[in-house]
Amino acid sequence: MHGTQFHSRQKNMPLDIVIMAAGKGTRMKSARPKVLHHIGGRPMLAHVLATCATLEARSIVVITGHGAEAVESAMRERFPQLPLRFVRQEPQLGTGHAVQQAAPVLPDDGTTLILNGDVPLIRAETARGLAAACGGRQLALLAIALDDPTGYGRIVRSGDTGGHVLAIVEHKDATPQQRAIREVYTGMMAAPTQALKRWLAGLRNDNAQKEYYLTDVVAAACNEGVQVVATHAAEETEVLGINSPAQLADLERRLQKAQAAALMEAGVRLADPARFDLRGELVCGNDVDIDVNCVFEGRVELGEGVYIGPNCVIRNARIAPLTQVQAYTHIEGESPDRPVLVGRDARIGPFARLRPGASLGDEVHIGNFVEVKNSTLADGAKANHLAYLGDATVGARVNYGAGSITANYDGANKHRTTIGADVHVGSNSVLVAPVSIGDGATIGGGSTITKDVAPGALAVARGKQVAIEGWARPKKAPR
Ligand code: UD1
Ligand code: MG
Repeated sequence: MHGTQFHSRQKNMPLDIVIMAAGKGTRMKSARPKVLHHIGGRPMLAHVLATCATLEARSIVVITGHGAEAVESAMRERFPQLPLRFVRQEPQLGTGHAVQQAAPVLPDDGTTLILNGDVPLIRAETARGLAAACGGRQLALLAIALDDPTGYGRIVRSGDTGGHVLAIVEHKDATPQQRAIREVYTGMMAAPTQALKRWLAGLRNDNAQKEYYLTDVVAAACNEGVQVVATHAAEETEVLGINSPAQLADLERRLQKAQAAALMEAGVRLADPARFDLRGELVCGNDVDIDVNCVFEGRVELGEGVYIGPNCVIRNARIAPLTQVQAYTHIEGESPDRPVLVGRDARIGPFARLRPGASLGDEVHIGNFVEVKNSTLADGAKANHLAYLGDATVGARVNYGAGSITANYDGANKHRTTIGADVHVGSNSVLVAPVSIGDGATIGGGSTITKDVAPGALAVARGKQVAIEGWARPKKAPR
């Protein structure tokens, strides 16, 4: 009964989210705005917004300041579907001042959830729980107990432990007794918007940092007799903020560990989860093996029984079952919607390079130092050594010899090369596009082919071998 009532009240209370992202990030020592630094392959602010996208918020207000234009355009481009708006905070006079800038665009009838642009791994369940704890009536804080609370705002309660929350005291303003408190404020809170605006209007900056502290709304709520509740984050990782390159690297590793654990849980065999990097999405069938030091970017799909050797970089690719990608292979699809395609039971690498537009059939072999760009290879085609296939359509079972290339670029335009089924291209051939080789034709090694070759023909286009019998090699003159 009670639960149903609570739920319907939640439904009536629209959620508006404010994300603070105006700070400079001085300790990053970088020209790039802090919230645009990447974690898991995307800007940290994009993680927060992706989480917000699942919260069914009425509006999402991002407070920008340092690097505002770059931050705003990057996020608009990534999240065209979100109810995003940006409010500038200039100059930056503290977290309370930041939220004050958003106040005019926040409707009074909602709950405001305040998040941080530099705390990227906050989970949706936790954010939802925080908004629910506010319940449209009270001030809810997200807290956590830390072994080392240095630098954080401490949660001061009545009595020793478990009493009512009375205030948040910033580290710099805290007494030695308060500094001993391990329960800290994570920087995230939820409040009834109308009350929040009232509390914000009364903020003062008479503190150690001469800033308008958002955290002072806690004491304001208490003064009005509004209850303040603290919910606790499940894991430290989801409330860790990024202020320095070392913290960025630490959180990156925690994210990678968590992603690796989830993949292994699903049955993926990672040779070493500590040497695995996923900067996007990886979808695996059963019995996938991934050796050490591989980097996956964009969206990658690996079919059942696929093997990825050590030190591969794979971005935007769909690899069919049983295919082996050997060590040091680089695969780079254009985008998640335009991946490189590799068929079943193919063998790629070691040291192969598949570029945008590469589409390989079943049982294709691409060997060492072979580059494939914007080309289709039908089933069973092979290019085993030192070759280039660009803008080419290659038929089934073609054998493309070592050192052969398609000369696809005339200095101004790109042209296509078409190679029929069962063609044999001898080593060190140059196929000057546009050119077409008929089914079953043979190209003599070392040929430069500029004219179409008929099916079944042998084309040889190179200087004839000349032999001069008894040739006397020149000798150095005596001195
Ligand atoms: C804040 C909290 C502190 C909490 C800690 C958790 C206050 C006063 N203190 O401290 O209790 O333990 O976070 O990490 O809120 N920002 C703006 N405009 C400003 C100032 C900051 O947008 O004028 C943004 C920053 O970009 C950042 C966030 O607000 O995303 C937090 O600011 P920061 O300066 O890191 O606050 P802390 O001192 O860490
Ligand atoms: Mg901070």
